[in-house]
Amino acid sequence: MIVALNNKSNLTKEEYKNYIEDLIKIECQSKIILCPTFLNLGSMTVKDIHLGAQNVSSTASGAYTGEVSASQLKSYNAEYCIVGHSERREYQKESNEEISLKINKLFTEGIIPILCVGETKEQRENNQVEAVLKEEILSATKTLSNEEKSKLIIAYEPIWSIGTGIIPTNIEITAVFKYIKEFLPDSKILYGGSANEKNVDILKEVSLIDGYLLGGLSLKPQDLKIFLNKLEN
Ligand code: PGA
Repeated sequence: MIVALNNKSNLTKEEYKNYIEDLIKIECQSKIILCPTFLNLGSMTVKDIHLGAQNVSSTASGAYTGEVSASQLKSYNAEYCIVGHSERREYQKESNEEISLKINKLFTEGIIPILCVGETKEQRENNQVEAVLKEEILSATKTLSNEEKSKLIIAYEPIWSIGTGIIPTNIEITAVFKYIKEFLPDSKILYGGSANEKNVDILKEVSLIDGYLLGGLSLKPQDLKIFLNKLEN
């Protein structure tokens, strides 16, 4: 299983130091991908924990104030990078076009993108789930080779589930994962959105899930430990 930890815009320098001390004590079989803020990403590398970024510039290095390029991420040992998170799509108005550019920059540096896709509550109620996912996936992958497509990781994160405590049913998740596989049969697909140590027993019954993208839970090492334990046993 892949378990990606999205710290979002949390943890000061000192808090991150303590957090890492707790995190490294967790023993598990899963592949842990830690995605801290850029500042914390640069502060240390941790044995057995893979490093991911939460965002990347759509341009190369150069005169782009405030941006962090894929080659810079690479130089700090980032192996993965989240792209197209719904929070960035909403607050930074990130478009599918820009997301596609970011994915290309990451592959150029050998960094694996974790592409977030998912529908709003309203889109689900209006039966637009497949249309939304199709648009997000096709626009992000249109310039990729088959090899790159197979390496791309998808995180299905229904927007109505992120941080709300509400998760889709296993039937709903299975239907979406099957649909995504029509476009990307070889990609690993993660589930994200309020996954926690309480609902993992239900979620893990979905055999198509290759792993999880955790937001809130990523910040609570004790609960994360319980989650991983339940997931793996
Ligand atoms: P959540 O966030 O686990 O807090 O719902 C997931 C995410 O936004 O990646």
